Amino acid sequence: MDSISLIRPDDWHLHLRDGEALRAVVGASAAQFARAIVMPNLRPPVTTVEQALAYRQRIVGALPPGTDFEPLMTLYLTDRTPADEIRRACETSGVVAVKLYPAGATTHSEEGVTDLRHTWPVLEAMQRAGMPLLVHGEVTDPAVDVFDREAVFIDTVLEPLRRDFPGLRVVFEHITTRQAVQYVAQAGDTLGATITAHHLLYNRNAIFAGGLRPHWYCLPVLKREEHRRALLEAATGDNPRFFLGTDSAPHAARLKEHAAACAGCYTAPHAIELYATAFEQAGALDRLEAFASFNGPDFYRLPRNRARIALRRESWTIPESLPFGADRIVPLAAGETIGWRLAR
Ligand code: DOR
Ligand code: ZN
Repeated sequence: MDSISLIRPDDWHLHLRDGEALRAVVGASAAQFARAIVMPNLRPPVTTVEQALAYRQRIVGALPPGTDFEPLMTLYLTDRTPADEIRRACETSGVVAVKLYPAGATTHSEEGVTDLRHTWPVLEAMQRAGMPLLVHGEVTDPAVDVFDREAVFIDTVLEPLRRDFPGLRVVFEHITTRQAVQYVAQAGDTLGATITAHHLLYNRNAIFAGGLRPHWYCLPVLKREEHRRALLEAATGDNPRFFLGTDSAPHAARLKEHAAACAGCYTAPHAIELYATAFEQAGALDRLEAFASFNGPDFYRLPRNRARIALRRESWTIPESLPFGADRIVPLAAGETIGWRLAR
């Protein structure tokens, strides 16, 4: 097979940042995807419908002329989010979900939720309206090993939450473990999960191969090979509640190549090619379209895209770095050769 044709995919988990950084990266996602769920972890965070709509305007304004790309906006949940904000979001087309960051879990999560009980009225309103809660699924207790934080989150936070709000629609974002795969697989229709390309392609050895490699550092961190295999099996399998979310998270090269490297892998410019590589390695290229283009819109109850894209078998080298405003950014797997290319 030298080329594959897919319904145009969407990215159900994306960081676009703001200002100069936004202008530097948004075209890359628009060239790959028709729509994206845009994460609200700006500084200050996007906590209101008004802020989300203003941010949406800035994204659309930053698109290269002639590109066709729909940002789907999210609100950043805090201890103080009023339930009324959910009612406003439900009346607003373009704001589609609410993101839960446990306070301290990741980049710009300081204003996240310290105790889920503070958010019960909001969760109740979301449950009633059918609005999905997008969850960064890691506990923040420093006593819990970094590699165990997702598995502990399932037992101590996610399962109790889903018991308290059985009708709440939840997306378990960027899952990284066998435990998460099993938890989502046994759950009902209200639970979906996104999977990144980097968690399908790499295990935690990638962070340490030949030296400490900060461009492979993200949160949740890459896990053991057994977990990567479980994710690959889920992504290529026939459960429609697993779908594509890149978690492409741009940071300037100087902040990644740093004593306290920022978390995040920048995959937007070659995301679908990375996914194709992972699916081909699993002998499951025929499963890519469902994962990338059908399962996400079906879960979000949005129409599937109509246009198509083509991927060609072609060997090419991922650039060493790309412009990023006044800085440079290093995409994941920079300098490496990849075997699929999106036809432009
Ligand atoms: O690696 C990550 N980067 N994980 C997150 O949860 C946040 C993201 C970012 O915003 O940089
Ligand atoms: Zn993210």
